[in-house]
Amino acid sequence: MAVMFSPVKIGSMTVSNRFVLSATYEAMATETGEVTDDLIGRYRTLAKAGTGLIIPGYFFVHPLGKAAPKQAGIHSDDMIPGLKRLVEAVHEHGAKIALQLVHGGMQTGKANTGRAPLGPSGGLRNPMTLEKCREMTPDEIEETIQAFAQGARRAAETGADAVQIHGAHGYLISEFLSPFFNQRQDEWGGSDERRFGLVKAVIQEIRKRVPEDLPILIKLNTNDFTPKPGVTPPLAKTYAGWLRDMGIDGVELSCGTFFTLHMVRGKIPAKEIVKVLPFWMRPFARLQFRRLRRSCGFSEAYNLPAAEHIKPALGPVPLMLVGGVRRLSQMEKLVAEGYPDLISMSRPFIREPYLVKRFKEGKAKEAACISCNKCFAAVANNLPVRCYVNGLPI
Ligand SMILES: Cc1cc2nc3c(=O)[nH]c(=O)nc-3n(C[C@H](O)[C@H](O)[C@H](O)COP(=O)(O)O)c2cc1C
Repeated sequence: MAVMFSPVKIGSMTVSNRFVLSATYEAMATETGEVTDDLIGRYRTLAKAGTGLIIPGYFFVHPLGKAAPKQAGIHSDDMIPGLKRLVEAVHEHGAKIALQLVHGGMQTGKANTGRAPLGPSGGLRNPMTLEKCREMTPDEIEETIQAFAQGARRAAETGADAVQIHGAHGYLISEFLSPFFNQRQDEWGGSDERRFGLVKAVIQEIRKRVPEDLPILIKLNTNDFTPKPGVTPPLAKTYAGWLRDMGIDGVELSCGTFFTLHMVRGKIPAKEIVKVLPFWMRPFARLQFRRLRRSCGFSEAYNLPAAEHIKPALGPVPLMLVGGVRRLSQMEKLVAEGYPDLISMSRPFIREPYLVKRFKEGKAKEAACISCNKCFAAVANNLPVRCYVNGLPI
């Protein structure tokens, strides 16, 4: 079991092993976006357990991009002292930490921002709340680029080892990259190059605001699985090549949006998720979930075929594979064969924060997580993230 416990370099950062905690929204911040002791405690434990790289749940970079009620923010300098405590808690135990930066795009709305959701194009509806999205103006796009850059600058000031741009799961950057969400015909849409424009500008602005050697990572969809084609593996491969040309330091490959929930394959806890919705929407949502059950079932390492397709475009850029990776022997094999350089997991670490230690000591050969997705339903209901395999207290 040598490879998974061997160090790896991501840009200037050396990670002590190949285990990554993939960003996982905790529903543990205050309503105004400050981190709490409970949130910090979660990451202290994961660091203590030997997790090499920790990526806490997404931080909103702009108040209009806040995607969930108890989401932590990096939208203002007031957040820096709390974030510093988080970073220090992780560093105390020798782990590395990357802060994930997000703008919720159309996957948020009035309840979180006080306004209608914003997206590359108007008309589409937030798949959860059915709120209609408004097309962003060029000025709003510019403001958002600066918000990402300022978020990254703050992350660097906290002492974080890296930043990760959330370019997956149907949030704003993923929407701009997607021909399904982005139907603009101005300089931000109309061709693959122009749809790539937002993320390109975000990376360029971040570079101006952070120390030269701060690694910039991105989480990217290999497939949006939207009702009509969005990002697909060939397009993701094109984007991966452009990201490499821009000097990206690491890429985590994922999939799905809130239209179809493919990012968390497994069971769909419909009963618990519909509780978030107004009564009138529940029958429709139940029907949708029944349909999704067929395509969203669990399969092991479900982003692997797409990762194999995309890897050649990335060349030497470290690749993190997320989604349904559970067996240590499979992780060893994949990393030894050189497809992913690191293995990212989310739900397994919710159930077993000490998973890396258990693997190392030979006490576990695979994660105990059964992908029931009750953790996902819990955070949707504003309950703090943990394993709720035996049921939610709602
Ligand atoms: C409760 C929960 C919260 C999540 N929050 C985030 C997030 O903040 N940012 C993100 O990129 N992905 C998020 N994800 C997706 C995971 O990072 C990961 O991509 C997905 O769960 C598949 O990996 P797994 O099979 O190891 O769980 C979340 C997943 C869960 C279950």
